[in-house]
Amino acid sequence: LDLPINEKLVEICKNLPICTEWPQVVIENCKHEAIFYVLKVNAVDTSKALSAVDPSILVKTQFPMMPNVLTAKILHIFEIDFNLDEKERLVVLSQPFQKDNFVSTQINAVVPFQYLTRFQQQQLVLKNPPLQFETCGHIAHYNLFTPEQFALRNYIGMTTLDQNIKTVILKTQPISNQFRTFEFVLIAGVEKYETTVQQNGFKLKLNLQTCYFNSRLQNEHEQVVEMIKNDPERGFVFDATAGVGPFGIPLALSKINVLMNDLNVESYNYQLENIKLNNCQKYAKCLNQDSFQLIKEVVQNPNQFFDMKCTHIILNLPELSVDFLSSLQNIKCDQRFFIETFTRQKLHFVEDLLVRATAAKKGWDFVFDELKMENQIVEGFGCDVFDIKDLDKDEIRKFQRFYKEFEVQIVRDVGTTKWMVR
Ligand SMILES: C[S@@+](CC[C@H](N)C(=O)[O-])C[C@H]1O[C@@H](n2cnc3c(N)ncnc32)[C@H](O)[C@@H]1O
Repeated sequence: LDLPINEKLVEICKNLPICTEWPQVVIENCKHEAIFYVLKVNAVDTSKALSAVDPSILVKTQFPMMPNVLTAKILHIFEIDFNLDEKERLVVLSQPFQKDNFVSTQINAVVPFQYLTRFQQQQLVLKNPPLQFETCGHIAHYNLFTPEQFALRNYIGMTTLDQNIKTVILKTQPISNQFRTFEFVLIAGVEKYETTVQQNGFKLKLNLQTCYFNSRLQNEHEQVVEMIKNDPERGFVFDATAGVGPFGIPLALSKINVLMNDLNVESYNYQLENIKLNNCQKYAKCLNQDSFQLIKEVVQNPNQFFDMKCTHIILNLPELSVDFLSSLQNIKCDQRFFIETFTRQKLHFVEDLLVRATAAKKGWDFVFDELKMENQIVEGFGCDVFDIKDLDKDEIRKFQRFYKEFEVQIVRDVGTTKWMVR
């Protein structure tokens, strides 16, 4: 349902302060005047009238839905005051209707703002309302792309508040620091950035201002945990860039020993808190160190952490993950690595990742440059020069033999030409 822009509301909303609830002036101007069409029918003719009407234009009936119109789309639920006598029924339609003796009458109805959906409320002031936002506990988080959306950000924020969403923020800068936190401003609700996220069977407490967390990685977290759970030769897991514990906590809850580490002391403090919150102290330990050094310690001297081998290492700091491998130059590793990284080379991301991983392990100064990559492939694997774009499956397999097992998965699309892979 396309709603026309309400110019008066647009002007009010451009100067709107950050709100925790709807101001009266907005409520009054947000009422939407809509045109509907009604069929007043005699009770006995109801069924006949309803079967004649195209269900897609049915808005509401004044009686329980009949089975033959169960597929009807309900566009609005709202109150219209009609004096119907006991034998009359009212059918509200979004378009005029005429068939047999049934002829609709136009009515002008006022739809109060609370009957509009969030998107419809935004349609009253924006030509292009934002299509999505992310949530982290009680916090909703927007990326806004157009000047129009930016000018009306506080209204967008206010329409987003509901029973679960109490704080709405707008990301102002791309993530660029090493702790992967982002700059944002409040656009609606309360200024409270500590929150608790309910994941599949466990809880994570965190502060979005000081720690990294991304709800969109939930699938990725679950997949890696599942793969580790299903590995019969499991020792302990080292999560080298653990954040607030989205891999570590579910692993520990599955009775798998896990060493979590994060350089950010805030994330480390939440790891400690989340271990208690989820009651998994027996299986989880955490540290606040630099994994560039710690990874070597864990590989060479695992028994200082748990009385067993370290069999799995998770590196999910995409900008630096493969670089951590440079700390393992000339060190024999037989762990299974889960390395997340970004690539712009969708078609041949396998070799991109292989070369980057190998280059990092061999200590090459890696520059993403195709010519250099060819040389690195030749130097690294001693094979002939070829155009890497033409790599076929057999050639990829040639590289893979340097790794016991090598799997590449796309984790998520980061942009139209950028992917996160593991
Ligand atoms: C992309 S976040 C991932 C966090 C967590 N694994 C998750 O999925 O939510 C990467 C984490 O690496 C941490 N980090 C950055 N440099 C580090 C280093 N040298 N050693 C250990 N942790 C580091 C950051 O503080 C951040 O929490």
